[in-house]
Amino acid sequence: MPAILFKSHADSAANWGNELKKHVNPYDYRVWPDAGNKADVDVAIVWKPEPGMLKQFPNLKMVASLGAGVDHIFADPELPRHVPVVRLVDPWMADAMAEYVALNVLRFHRDDPDYQRLQAQKTWKPLPFSEAEARTIAIMGIGFMGASVAAKLKPFGFKIAGWSRSPKTIDGVACYHGPNGLAAMLKQANYLVCLLPATPSTVGIVNAANLTLLPRGAILIQCGRGAQTVEADVLASLNSGQLGGAALDVFPTEPLSPDNPLWTHPKVFITPHVASQTNPRTGAIVVAENIRRVRRGEKPHDAVDPAVGY
Ligand SMILES: NC(=O)c1ccc[n+]([C@@H]2O[C@H](COP(=O)([O-])OP(=O)(O)OC[C@H]3O[C@@H](n4cnc5c(N)ncnc54)[C@H](OP(=O)(O)O)[C@@H]3O)[C@@H](O)[C@H]2O)c1
Repeated sequence: MPAILFKSHADSAANWGNELKKHVNPYDYRVWPDAGNKADVDVAIVWKPEPGMLKQFPNLKMVASLGAGVDHIFADPELPRHVPVVRLVDPWMADAMAEYVALNVLRFHRDDPDYQRLQAQKTWKPLPFSEAEARTIAIMGIGFMGASVAAKLKPFGFKIAGWSRSPKTIDGVACYHGPNGLAAMLKQANYLVCLLPATPSTVGIVNAANLTLLPRGAILIQCGRGAQTVEADVLASLNSGQLGGAALDVFPTEPLSPDNPLWTHPKVFITPHVASQTNPRTGAIVVAENIRRVRRGEKPHDAVDPAVGY
């Protein structure tokens, strides 16, 4: 009987097993390192697989990521290149990401950090307001998650811009693409949301050169991947006032070190890479559909292009 192998230090193997059991038949579920006969395993569901692990399964038909990103899988230099790598495209996760971005846009838009400080001083002091219509939310990486963020924030009245690798047309979104499109978008970004995948072309993209292009006082919302952030540049931009604040969910080094100055920076909100967490209840439905497809000899949905890395 074909077997599913599960490997993650961050997700519950028991919860995933219980959810997959509802949708996959026949069901043989093994949890790494107890893989049993490795020739049985045709599907691996993984988060940060150990380098060299996946090449041990000769009959693998699919490697399914336990996250929207697949950088943690391509980090394995011995990854068997003939096996499709599939990212997790779960509408529940896109909704959760939109919640995270909305929370952070609105808390800066409504001067929440300032009102919290005034409350701490027991000071009753109305501040000048700004209009959503006069503000642009710019999304670096307007893919599955980015489009959900755009759709959920547009009704508040903000202008929305998005940047992708390929040209796009999205209703209500000013679309930019390619290296030449980035600067034009950054110049109008009052809120810069990073939802890019981690690939060689996005490493270090949240850097001084790009942050300098933003209108002074812009807000950074980084919920893509930590490798995209040049942390010293973000800190310098916050300290100079070029950035008016930041909500940071991902970091070059995770967990964030206790002595990192970002923890206590008055303009920064930190969360521990939870902007959109993997949900076994909804994720298992998506993964199970792909298991059925590869077992029928069909191509899985949402296989990534190894040449571009996302
Ligand atoms: N913090 C968290 O909790 C969390 C949770 C989930 C996901 N994430 C991050 O969010 C990322 C996006 O997820 P997704 O499902 O939305 O992925 P996706 O659908 O593949 O979207 C990625 C977007 O980035 C664009 N892009 C990629 N490389 C680019 C480049 N070099 N220049 C310009 N645009 C580029 C793509 O352009 P094209 O449309 O032209 O391909 C696409 O629009 C994930 O890879 C992960 O890093 C974070």
